[in-house]
Amino acid sequence: MAVEPVVYGASERPPRGDYARADADYTCAQDYAAYTQADHDTYRRLYERQEALLPGRACDAFIAALPSLGVKDRIPRFEEINARLSKATGWEIVGVPGLIPEVPFFTLLANRKFPVTDWIRKPEEFDYIVEPDIFHDMFGHVPLLFNPVFADHMQEYGKGGLKAHGLDACELLSRLYWYTVEFGLIRQEDGLRAYGAGILSSPGELQYAVESPEPQRLPFDIQRVMRTAYKIDSYQQTYFVIDSFRELFEKTAPDFTPVYAQLRDAPVLPAGRVAA
Ligand code: PHE
Ligand code: CO
Repeated sequence: MAVEPVVYGASERPPRGDYARADADYTCAQDYAAYTQADHDTYRRLYERQEALLPGRACDAFIAALPSLGVKDRIPRFEEINARLSKATGWEIVGVPGLIPEVPFFTLLANRKFPVTDWIRKPEEFDYIVEPDIFHDMFGHVPLLFNPVFADHMQEYGKGGLKAHGLDACELLSRLYWYTVEFGLIRQEDGLRAYGAGILSSPGELQYAVESPEPQRLPFDIQRVMRTAYKIDSYQQTYFVIDSFRELFEKTAPDFTPVYAQLRDAPVLPAGRVAA
């Protein structure tokens, strides 16, 4: 069955992936033979650059799990990763042609399947790409799926997403994803570190998020997070800081139904600093 391509917002840009290859659940086989030597080189160079920036900036759990991705000098095969990942936490990665709609996305997560875009950026996009590609999805998201607490949180998020869809609250819940899974910071004993994939896969934002005096860094609060708008095309102006994945798991465990009801008509706060 053919599926509709998905783009961010009201973008004029055509979608990058080939959605004709996707099944009804939006997944597709990783077309490994389609990667060129240039694609593998792009992956290797992105990996090398990013790995060098991790000490002192990425959280310990991420650094500990990164070697589980295996090869770094070429694009890994999804099966190679799955052999280790399924043993570690029961998760599995599945190929997708790009962004997918809410319900199929949440359904995959609820079943401990993480969608990974199977194509890689062009050499001229080496420093910046708006859409997630295989480097963002693989390097940014997959390592923490090897962490048991974080892995469980991702499944709960998927189940919560299906519930939010029924309550027409996906926009509120998407802010939670944005400020945690994509752009979350964590306080370790030895300092502030990144655990969000959007930070960990970006050389500029990794340094900025952890070290710059510019952005505001707020303690993690569900209501504050869900009320805060975000920008997809610049470094974040606000980050939310957790003390542990356990805290994230526990603070997101309560029923969000009353929270959604309360926030439905609350004004959205700007992505940046708010006057006291
Ligand atoms: N507890 C949330 C609810 O009841 C679901 C959820 C869990 C959402 C974890 C995000 C992360 O809707
Ligand atoms: Co992402």
